Order: sequence, then structure tokens, then C-alpha cells
Amino acid sequence: MNNLPIGIFDSGIGGTSVWKEIAALMPGEDTLYLADSRNAPYGERTGEEIIALSVKNTEWLLVKQCKIIVVACNTATTNAITYLRDQYPIPFIGIEPAIKPAALHSKTGTVGVLATKGTLASRLFSTTSKNHASHIRIVEQEGTGLVSLIESGRMNSGEVRELLKKYLVPMLDANMDHLVLGCTHFPYLMPVLKELLPDHIKIIDCGEAVARQTLRMLHDSEQLAGEEDPGRHQFFTNVDPGVLHDILAGLPGKKEVNYLDF
Ligand code: DGL
Repeated sequence: MNNLPIGIFDSGIGGTSVWKEIAALMPGEDTLYLADSRNAPYGERTGEEIIALSVKNTEWLLVKQCKIIVVACNTATTNAITYLRDQYPIPFIGIEPAIKPAALHSKTGTVGVLATKGTLASRLFSTTSKNHASHIRIVEQEGTGLVSLIESGRMNSGEVRELLKKYLVPMLDANMDHLVLGCTHFPYLMPVLKELLPDHIKIIDCGEAVARQTLRMLHDSEQLAGEEDPGRHQFFTNVDPGVLHDILAGLPGKKEVNYLDF
């Protein structure tokens, strides 16, 4: 048994879409969430910059004695997780666009992936596509501008709707039947996506799968916390905490949001 917290980081508030699955699946676990919103969007940065920021986030979580680190960011995972695993002796769980299940279930043979420029340009993304989806057509789309709009709390705005309309056209024209959300911020676009997409298109978000993988890893290494007391959840952000507060307000659990000059 291990009552140390699960560390989670993202370039901002998007990783809370993964955090909420972790908190729901493992109610006894404490969590520490680091939102590096001041440096978002990571997806517009170089691979070296993404690695440097991921290292900084990891080291902060290690000082806080986290027992495992969840990289709740596709951009950081696809650009930095190999480096992090090489450098630090702690287990890392990452998140990548779920093209494998989408490719497996696609009937039209076309899958759309909406992700950041940094994710789509990464070596890990191209290896995964080659290994698991070479038999289908993948229509890749950079979601430029979406992360910043979500970070500023404008996830249901006209600006988001207009950008999404434009981004979805090539995928719809190609007859996709699955849309993979390749960025942890994008589950917050679900209401607008549902409004814009025909009902038969399945939207894939793998936050829940990441939570299950975290549970498996902690279970196998006998590091799960006891379940007598509900977990305590601490969030740290290096910008005004208002939007993070609003996003968390509707979610269950004992939560604390702190500003951190990081
Ligand atoms: N949530 C991050 C991801 O999953 C957003 C990346 C960004 O900051 O551009 O990729």
C-alpha cells in the first residue's frame, strides 16, 4: 500500500479530463495536478521545448513525492515520454491519440484525428499510425487555436464553433466514421462537436483507458492507496485559477486550487 499522491501534469486545464477519470476510478487516491497554463499551448512549441517543460513539470511532481506520474497531455507524451522514462526511475503513464481502437472499429476505413501540431509531427504518432492503422485512411487535422480558446474558458464560443466547422470539413468529406480526440483539452469541446457532427460518427477520447492503465500499474506494483478515506485533490496553476475553478466546480471530490508562481 502507498498513500503518496498520483502526480498529473498538462500544459493547462485539459488534463483535468483525465484527472476526473482517475479520481472516479480510484476514489481513495490523493492526486496532485500541475497545470502549466502559462506555457500553453505546448503544441506550437519545438520538440526540445516540450521536453524541457515536461522535465520541469516532472521534477516539481517528484519533489512532492508522487508515486507515479500521469502525463495527461498528448503533446508532452508523444514528444517527451521516452526521454522522461529514460531519465527518471518512476513509472510514467502517457496518453496518445487512440487511433488503434478507431482503426479496429472503422467501417468506412477512414478515421479523423484532431490533435496539436506537436502531436501530429511527433515520431511516436507516426510510428503508432504505421503500426496500427496502415490499413485505413487517417485524416489528420491540427486544431490550431482551440487549446488557447479552451484555456480562456471559451469552449462553447462562436470562435470555437467556427474553427471546428472548418477543421471537420476534410474529415467529413473523406467519410470518417470515428473522430479521435488527440488532445486532452478537446473533451471540453464535446457539446459543440456533438452539435456539428452527424450522430453515426463516434468520438473517441481515451481518458478512461488512461485511468484504467494507471490503476493496473499501481495494482501490479502494490502501490494502491487504502480506500477508507476519500482522496484529497490538489491543483496548481501558474495563471489566474478562475477557469480551472469553473471546470472543477461541477466535478465531485475534495478539491483545492492553488496559484503557483512556476
Ligand atoms: N492537453 C494538451 C494535449 O493533450 C494540449 C497541448 C497544448 O498545450 O498545445 O496535447
